[in-house]
This record gives sequence, structure tokens and C-alpha cells, in this order.
Amino acid sequence: MPTPLAIDTDPGIDDALAILLALASPEVDLKLVTTVHGNVDLARTTENALRVLHLAGRSDVPVAAGAHDSLVHPQPERAGHVHGTAGLGGVELPPSPAAVDPRPAVVALTELLTASPEPVTIVAIGPLTNIALLLRVHPAAAARIGRLVIMGGSAARGGNVTAAAEFNVWADAEAAQAVLTSTLPTVLVGLDVTLPTVLDEDGIARFAAAGPIGARAAAILQQYVDHARTAYGTTGVVVHDALAVTEAILPGTLGTVRRDVVVDTGLGFGRGQTLVDRRTVSTAPTAVEVAEHVDSAAAVEFLVSRLASLDARPV
Ligand code: RIB
Ligand code: CA
Repeated sequence: MPTPLAIDTDPGIDDALAILLALASPEVDLKLVTTVHGNVDLARTTENALRVLHLAGRSDVPVAAGAHDSLVHPQPERAGHVHGTAGLGGVELPPSPAAVDPRPAVVALTELLTASPEPVTIVAIGPLTNIALLLRVHPAAAARIGRLVIMGGSAARGGNVTAAAEFNVWADAEAAQAVLTSTLPTVLVGLDVTLPTVLDEDGIARFAAAGPIGARAAAILQQYVDHARTAYGTTGVVVHDALAVTEAILPGTLGTVRRDVVVDTGLGFGRGQTLVDRRTVSTAPTAVEVAEHVDSAAAVEFLVSRLASLDARPV
């Protein structure tokens, strides 16, 4: 029986791959996509989510739009320079025939959580604004979450958007603080495990050659490849969000340790930093399963093979 899944996302190049990975994986049943501001603005993240689902022939999956900005302090800047101004690396996907779900994201999540006979896994791969709002507006529904897998933060790898902070946490530090100090069953997939997990150009070529879906996914990635080459001098790309979805598909893929985590919500240089207490294994109900170990080669192979399988399916 596949696990019911919801993805909260700000597509976003790596978000797009993460959504495609979920659709390629029979272990999960993608019931809902909710969108949030982040890499680009909400209108674009929402349109991109619709188009990525349509690319894979799954415009039946509802897309509900959520928060257009952070809870308290507006997100200082978007990430168009990394993801392209429209958010998909300059690639124009065909528009979806589906319309945005009329329900706000928090309502759609609440109805899914309340109606599902099985515990729902939620993967949050953008700023945590929608998840924080769910906690505050519908705590009883939030308590029904089976697993919350978050791409975000960093225990010991510093930041990517600033020296201290990872982008998703930095984009809404107050939301991240509310979620990471809640009692939700949370797995935190941070830079410690995503940065070593590099999808190289051989892997991209494999799914690009598989057919039209893989070819479009590779085209979307190209800006990420070019950015990585310029910014880091590397020939591969870190597909952060896909690793979080992999953990949702195959629980236990990542080695985790229960840690107490707080977020710097100040307005100084440390804003958005996740302070992970690695002195002890936490027994607190608010502890977070922090991913500290990854088999990067196996994770990349899993991603490549699953993305290639999208074109192997009967039309
Ligand atoms: O830090 C990586 C995260 O920021 C990913 O979710 C990526 O999509 C960007 O939003
Ligand atoms: Ca993202």
C-alpha cells in the first residue's frame, strides 16, 4: 500500500526533479502539492508546480497555493539568479490544463490529513511558512502528520544563501523556528547530507536519453549545472530537494540522530542559522531526526534510475 504523500514546494529547479521523483516512485501516492513563496514568487512557484505535474502526465494531482511571503520579516531576496527568473532554469514547459485548486494550501493540507485513513507523509522543500501556518491554524490536523521530511538547515556545513544559513530556513526563519521546535515527527535533511550528494552530468545524460520527460528535466537542470560550474567550479549539481523526497520514499535512507534544533531569528549575520545541539542525543518530544549520514552514490543512482523510468512507463 503506497504511503499518501503531500509535497510543499517552491519550484524551483531541484523542486521540479523532486516532484518528478515522487511521481516515479510506487512506494508513495502523491495526493497533493502545495506551493509557497521562495525561489521565485508564489504565482510562479504555483504555475511551475502545475506544469511539472502536467509534464509527467499527472495534472490530476491538485495544486493548492499557500503563503506569498514569510510570516514576519519579508524574504530579503528570491533566488532567480540560481533557478532563473521564472524558476525552471529558463525552460518554458507546456501549460497544464488543470487550474489551481481553489482552496488555500493550509485548508487543502488540513482536509487531506483529516480524511486520510493512513498517516500522510509531508515533504517540505521550500520555506516553512505553510507548515507553520498549518501548525497554528489547524493543530489537530497537523498532529495527524505521519512524517514531516524537511529539506533545510545545516548542522555543521554552514550556509548556502549566507555564511550561516541554508536558503529555506533563511527565507522564513520564524516559520522554521516554529516547526523545528514543535512535536511534529520531523526529519531534517540539511546541507550536511545534500551537499555531498552530487548529480553529475553522466547521470543527467542517462535520464535525458530516456525520453521526453527526462529530456525536459535535464533541460531544466542545465541552468543549475551552469551555476554550479561558475559558483563552485563543479561539474555536477546538488539536487537538495530530491534527497528529501528520497527519504520520504525509502524511510531510513539517511542516517539520522535525534537532536534539539533551534533557529536564529535575529536580524544579524546569523539569521536563519539552524543551531543543532550535537552534544547529546535528545529525548525531548520536540527533538528532530537530523540527517547526518548519507550514501550519496546510492542516492544519486536511485534518483537517476527513477527519473529515467518516467519515460519507460506506458503512455
Ligand atoms: O538550500 C536549498 C533549498 O533552497 C532547496 O529547496 C532549493 O530549491 C532552494 O529552495
Ligand atoms: Ca526548494
